[in-house]
Amino acid sequence: MTPRPLILDVDTGVDDALALLYAAASPEVELIGATTVMGNVTVRHATENTLAVLELAGLGHVEVASGAARPLVRDHEPFPVVHGERGLGRAELPSSTRAPSSRSAAQLLVEAARERRGEVLLVATGPLTNVALALAEEPGLPELLGGFAIMGGAFARGGNATPAAEANIWVDPDAAQAVFRGFAGREAARLPLCAGLDVTDRVQLSRAALDAICADMPGSPVARFLQEAVPFYIEFYERFGVAGGAAMHDPLALALALDESLGTFETTRVEVETDGQWTRGMTVADLRGVRHSPWPVGWEPEENARVALDVDVAGFLTRFADRLRSLAEAPA
Ligand code: BDR
Ligand code: CA
Repeated sequence: MTPRPLILDVDTGVDDALALLYAAASPEVELIGATTVMGNVTVRHATENTLAVLELAGLGHVEVASGAARPLVRDHEPFPVVHGERGLGRAELPSSTRAPSSRSAAQLLVEAARERRGEVLLVATGPLTNVALALAEEPGLPELLGGFAIMGGAFARGGNATPAAEANIWVDPDAAQAVFRGFAGREAARLPLCAGLDVTDRVQLSRAALDAICADMPGSPVARFLQEAVPFYIEFYERFGVAGGAAMHDPLALALALDESLGTFETTRVEVETDGQWTRGMTVADLRGVRHSPWPVGWEPEENARVALDVDVAGFLTRFADRLRSLAEAPA
């Protein structure tokens, strides 16, 4: 079977790096581009990290386009406590000698979707600024893409950046709101498939599981990278009182986009709180269908998202480990 073309929009960070490695190890897709955005780190560091991780994975030929340096209307502060100063924990990969693309992230997204109409799967694992800019440039993006998935939101539970908001949405709630509205009313298969904290917080990679993966790939540069990058991220969760390991947010979003049978989804309407003093970045999902009640409450009726509410935790973790192991032979 011909692999589906995939673009990852990333704020590379430890778990974004793991999503890039998962993509490299997934035969059902061909990574044709990576676009970068500020979030976990500055966009400059996100771009450098993405170039370096792709080289580690043997994907040094993949186009990397640098994107938004700040949210649509707000300022940006990276959060080094989660992923480290440079974003990859304690890992220091060799800097790539390649320059990023001359195209901007939004340009790459729009042009790739136009060139390969109906084929490109876009998976966004950072703030949605680049996707909002691409939609502003090409409002027909939902029809041009072959699929769209997001790591972001917390739909039937609380947040991680604040009690209300998940980090990717919190960084640029205006962009997220524009994206959800831009996809409203499309047929269900074209709606963003959202892997929020409802599912991503449940797929935890423990130190033991990490060690087991690395033990099976002795001497591999990928294993060395995993041992230098991931424990820092696990330590963040431990300081937060989570004993089971670090949440595999971004690889899960990609895994669900590639195989929806790993999750269960509800098609609904999502609005993003852009102004609330305590609720900024909150993803409010109408999971009860209240907007269809005879009492008009000001919500648009059209659906704009498919949100994941359950996940096959063991199924994902097994697949994740198997795919990372398959990179044992990736060139340094
Ligand atoms: C998301 O925020 C970032 O820290 C991670 O990379 C992930 O995309 C989880 O809330
Ligand atoms: Ca991310």
